[in-house]
Amino acid sequence: MTSIHPSILSADFANLAAELQRISSADAVHVDVMDNHFVPNLTLGLPVVKAIREATDLPLDIHLMIDDADRWAPEYSEAGCESVTFHIEAAARPRELARILRSHGSKAAMAVKPGTELEPHLEILSELDMLLIMTVEPGFGGQSFMEAMLPKITAARQAADDLGGTVAIQVDGGINRDTILRAAEAGADTFVAGSAVYSAADPDAAIAQLRKLIPGS
Ligand code: DX5
Ligand code: ZN
Repeated sequence: MTSIHPSILSADFANLAAELQRISSADAVHVDVMDNHFVPNLTLGLPVVKAIREATDLPLDIHLMIDDADRWAPEYSEAGCESVTFHIEAAARPRELARILRSHGSKAAMAVKPGTELEPHLEILSELDMLLIMTVEPGFGGQSFMEAMLPKITAARQAADDLGGTVAIQVDGGINRDTILRAAEAGADTFVAGSAVYSAADPDAAIAQLRKLIPGS
């Protein structure tokens, strides 16, 4: 099932509560947590996520671009975030981490950077609710979709289907009206969009436009 998750990285951080109201038709809010170590950028952490939790009824899709995910990710589940994504490159014990996240009641998701091979990490897919294929180098909004990731999306879809189709395949980076269909045709079902949604005069209308481009959604 198609899900559109606007990224608030492209929203006005001084007016987050109002910005959240502009995406009421979203399936979830994508929150990019960056620590200035795993990625060069620095955004927000748990206190702001808790404030966002209070400000919206939409599910929160937390994308952790931080080192030492094993230590920090569970706190986001405990804070009531519906989905917590850690990067495989930053997790020492990903299988255990996924189990802990689920035990706290959130979905567990794993992200792979463009340069990271998927194949060696597929063995933990059965512990996951979602797999995030990064379609830009993580760290910044507004970058161009990397076409070279299309085969990786297809490989992820195949692996998810082999497990019975319970794992969502998310793409993040450069998703807009020109690229969303190609990502969907490659096998993605969950789409993060930052600048494509928040650069629009009406973000909810931009979400509807993106949705309309996916056949059957
Ligand atoms: C990048 C972030 C993305 C970002 C996407 O590291 O993970 O979620 O907000 O922004 P756009 O949609 O503008 O590429
Ligand atoms: Zn993200």
